[in-house]
Amino acid sequence: MTWTPTSWRTKPAAQQVGYSDNEALARVLAEMASLPPLVTSWEVENLKSHLAKAARGETFVLQGGDCAESFDDCRSEPIAAKLKILLQMSLVLVHGTRKPVVRIGRIAGQYAKPRSADVETRGDVTLPAYRGDIINRDGFTPEDREPDPTLMLRAYERAALTLNFIRALLDGGFADLHHPEYWDVSFAHGSPNAAQYERIVESIRESLDFVSAITGVENEVLRRVDIYTSHEALALPYEQAQTRRVPRRPGYYNLSTHFPWIGMRTAQLDGAHVEFFRGIRNPLGIKLGPGMTDEWLTGLLDVLDPEREPGRITLIHRMGASKIAEKLPPLVETVRRAGRTVLWVCDPMHGNTETTPQGIKTRRFDNIVSELEQSFEVHEKLGSRLGGVHIELTGENVTECVGGARGLTEADLAHAYKSRVDPRLNYEQALETALRIARHLRPGT
Ligand code: PEP
Ligand code: CO
Repeated sequence: MTWTPTSWRTKPAAQQVGYSDNEALARVLAEMASLPPLVTSWEVENLKSHLAKAARGETFVLQGGDCAESFDDCRSEPIAAKLKILLQMSLVLVHGTRKPVVRIGRIAGQYAKPRSADVETRGDVTLPAYRGDIINRDGFTPEDREPDPTLMLRAYERAALTLNFIRALLDGGFADLHHPEYWDVSFAHGSPNAAQYERIVESIRESLDFVSAITGVENEVLRRVDIYTSHEALALPYEQAQTRRVPRRPGYYNLSTHFPWIGMRTAQLDGAHVEFFRGIRNPLGIKLGPGMTDEWLTGLLDVLDPEREPGRITLIHRMGASKIAEKLPPLVETVRRAGRTVLWVCDPMHGNTETTPQGIKTRRFDNIVSELEQSFEVHEKLGSRLGGVHIELTGENVTECVGGARGLTEADLAHAYKSRVDPRLNYEQALETALRIARHLRPGT
């Protein structure tokens, strides 16, 4: 079948909503299609070549951000805080690997959430589930839960505002190591990790100063950094509206983000999402949970990457600390048998979600680190390579995941639990995770 940006409409689409006002929907999509793209095909192709390098072990990928961005959090502090923790984590990883790190935010478009239940019941009232700010609202009234097509336009605009701010911060020297205010860990005073982190920053700063002293040139490498964007390309009308041809390059690009990923809930081989993904030229992420099979994965790779293009496919496994050792090896073998090179990334978050006796969703820091460590070991044992990590985090001091150096307990969760969806690592826990990962990445080990 010939692919077009709308050919997904001929296939069954999971996790989609019906809009009651089709004219309003058409108006929104037409407007979004006429507005400029959020990213460019040059950037998308650059990222693809970085991901190809990561698959070959030449770079390491750090992908992180909120489970779901909210329109309310499109404010300067949370965005700057998220950028800061991503930069700080990546610096720790650069130091650990002695390799460049590719930074990808779950940002500027991560507004749609897959849900396991279509409805939510509170008392004797049952309403459609909240599916993310791009679809409906999280208040518990029938009006709030009605899908509203104009929210897609709001999402596009929020994504543009977020990206504009990030690009301006980076251009203005936010990532410059010579600005100590961007690199301090005042948030973590008294944290056992602060001293280790400060030593790393100091050592990198010293080597940069040394290089510029002997070469006479400022080291641009860490002064100017790139951040790429990613989100789950779940709301297909939104993705379709930003998918277009560009001058002087073949094919179609989804210019709502650099790096869209497909979740397992929507990865049916004959489904609408796979149809949409196969036709866009972006690098693609595919989430792999415990239910992934040999045939399913082979099928996805054949449909989504028939040309075996370097950097095209990133497999993001999220099995859970108790299942990774059993579930990952067969999939690594599947890819090997297919004779393919992919980038393997570990998401140690989504297989480790649990609910406390008080009904609060949380994740244990120890399980997160354990899944990461086991992933490194499984890949190494099989002659494969873990080339990146995918983390849900926030730059703020929330209390959503238990454990970490400060020993957050279940009783602490109530203090600052802000996530509307999954529990995220807070600033300090995220940095500690980077320090733990870095230990596995020392060259020569
Ligand atoms: C997510 O990344 O927020 C998510 C829902 O993940 P998964 O589809 O792997 O459960
Ligand atoms: Co999540």
